[in-house]
Amino acid sequence: MGIKATNIVWQQTNVSRQDREKLLRQKGILIWFTGLSGSGKSTVATMLEKKLHDMGKLTYLLDGDNVRHGLNSDLGFSIEDRIENIRRIAELSKLFVDSGVITITTFISPFIKDREAVKELLKDDFIEVYVDCPIEVCEKRDPKGIYKKARKGEIKNFTGIDSPYEPPVNPEITVKTHIDSLEECVSKIIDYLELK
Ligand code: ADX
Repeated sequence: MGIKATNIVWQQTNVSRQDREKLLRQKGILIWFTGLSGSGKSTVATMLEKKLHDMGKLTYLLDGDNVRHGLNSDLGFSIEDRIENIRRIAELSKLFVDSGVITITTFISPFIKDREAVKELLKDDFIEVYVDCPIEVCEKRDPKGIYKKARKGEIKNFTGIDSPYEPPVNPEITVKTHIDSLEECVSKIIDYLELK
């Protein structure tokens, strides 16, 4: 999607990203979780955020279901709507990262192409975390009872059932919530961030 409006000029501001980062004593970064519904994205991200906060970092967690209540309440789960969902989140995340915040997102984001577009937008500020968990395990957990509904045909285009999920090819980090403990998954991400 290109820019539709004309007669708009990029406005320079007096306070830069570097100024904000200096004030916050941290670097803005985007930690992008991807994985099936029920894979544990929100659980891992919530604990990660708490750990970072306790370390004195300014964070913000953009959660799939929450963003769909507000900013993206006009979008459903068709392929086009999912693409638009991720496009808006990417632009929003870019602003958050520019503000110096450690930004964490938890969206299924099922398509490789869309996640690549996020990476293209955020460049080196993008860290992809694949929450790798077999669908059988996600379905067994079914914390929101939605797999049950999808199997009964009450929800159409459900990711992993009648809508595809494309796993990342080369994610920066992979966590396996069906094998490793929550603590281990979070530590793996913190270790990576500290190295970076
Ligand atoms: S995404 O595909 O566009 O990235 P997103 O992460 O925003 O999805 O929303 C996923 C959440 O919406 C799921 O955790 C689930 O609670 C709910 N949901 C409702 N309908 C569907 C559906 N058809 N497919 C997947 N998730 C759905």
